[in-house]
Amino acid sequence: MEHLDTLAVHAGRADFASLGVHTPPLDLSSTYPLPDVERGGDSYEALATGGTPIPGGSHVYARLWNPTVARFEAALATLEAAEAAVAFASGMAALTAAILSHTVSIGRPHVVAVRPLYGGSDHLLATGLLGTEVTFCGPDEVAASLRPDSGLIVVETPANPTLELVDIAAVVAQADGVPVLVDNTFATPVLQQPLAHGATMSLHSATKYLGGHGDVVGGVIACGAESAAALRRVRAITGGILHPLGAYLLHRGLPTLPLRMRAQQETAAKIARRLLEHDAIAEVFYPGLHGDPTGLLARQQHGTGAMVSLRLRGGYDAAAQVAASTRLFTHAVSLGGVDSLIQHPAALTHRPVAPDARPDADILRLSIGLEHVDDLIADVTQALALTREGAPKANAAH
Ligand SMILES: Cc1ncc(COP(=O)(O)O)c(C=O)c1O
Repeated sequence: MEHLDTLAVHAGRADFASLGVHTPPLDLSSTYPLPDVERGGDSYEALATGGTPIPGGSHVYARLWNPTVARFEAALATLEAAEAAVAFASGMAALTAAILSHTVSIGRPHVVAVRPLYGGSDHLLATGLLGTEVTFCGPDEVAASLRPDSGLIVVETPANPTLELVDIAAVVAQADGVPVLVDNTFATPVLQQPLAHGATMSLHSATKYLGGHGDVVGGVIACGAESAAALRRVRAITGGILHPLGAYLLHRGLPTLPLRMRAQQETAAKIARRLLEHDAIAEVFYPGLHGDPTGLLARQQHGTGAMVSLRLRGGYDAAAQVAASTRLFTHAVSLGGVDSLIQHPAALTHRPVAPDARPDADILRLSIGLEHVDDLIADVTQALALTREGAPKANAAH
């Protein structure tokens, strides 16, 4: 098996030689010619029920199958060492399909959700909009939270926005055979492959690191063949497929993913260590900053990632001031792109979360991009200097 860097460049290109192309063809067809009624009907039957195209058949209709999307899926499956991957119009569409296919549609409506989760995921489960019932719990309470009708366990690691690592194998050990979905958005397959630790599905908001350039919204789930068929069936019925242009851009982002992750991570680690010493900062959240007490960096997440969260001594007011005062960091939600972003989780990404589970109001989240580390540190430092706690001390000027 080649190294991940090589796979990232070459995965999803198996049909290039036969097509005589060097880059992924972008197929924007909304419908496809049918060879004849019988094979057209058989093709429809196969695709609408979650299967793959039949030999000599047709893709029938772009809500069921698209070759550009399928190439991105093949590439992502390779990077996650999974049998398959299924791509959606957004990370939330992917999560919706995972919930529908593994819970209510098979008569197991109960979901165990390990908090903290991304605010949108928490919201989707807490509203019960999809007909599910949810038990929120901590990573050690999964076994105690299971019910006979549990269909799915949802966990995110590193956790958002505090970046604690959750032991996937320990969650799987408590699962009693119930499928475990891991949100792998922050780590990416470069740092973590959840299926290798027993997870059933690895979900990405592909909008983030996989795309990496802030110009595509998408979601994808890497999993085994059985889950993939169930996901494709829901996708065909509900219409959540990724647009081929999005798939093209996501596939284009993959070759540089390992390089981007490593470079962004190196900068993030330096920023995290530097900010630890700053007067205006009460706490820096970053994996590995205080060693590897759980051993998870050694055995599960092979790297510390490029997200850094900060607790401001000056509370909400200081956090709001800093978020509004950076110049290189764009004040915006989302993450994982080549440009750095800053945002206030309690007010934005985690706003829909119940108040008692919402991140503290003095926390800011930084997504570190590819700018020079010194420029990013200078930018955060000038913003922190505008807060009371970070203001230059009177005698420091002399
Ligand atoms: C960790 C995580 N999971 C899922 C999502 C949802 O993805 P999308 O916004 O692509 O629907 C997000 C979005 O911010 C996220 O940060």
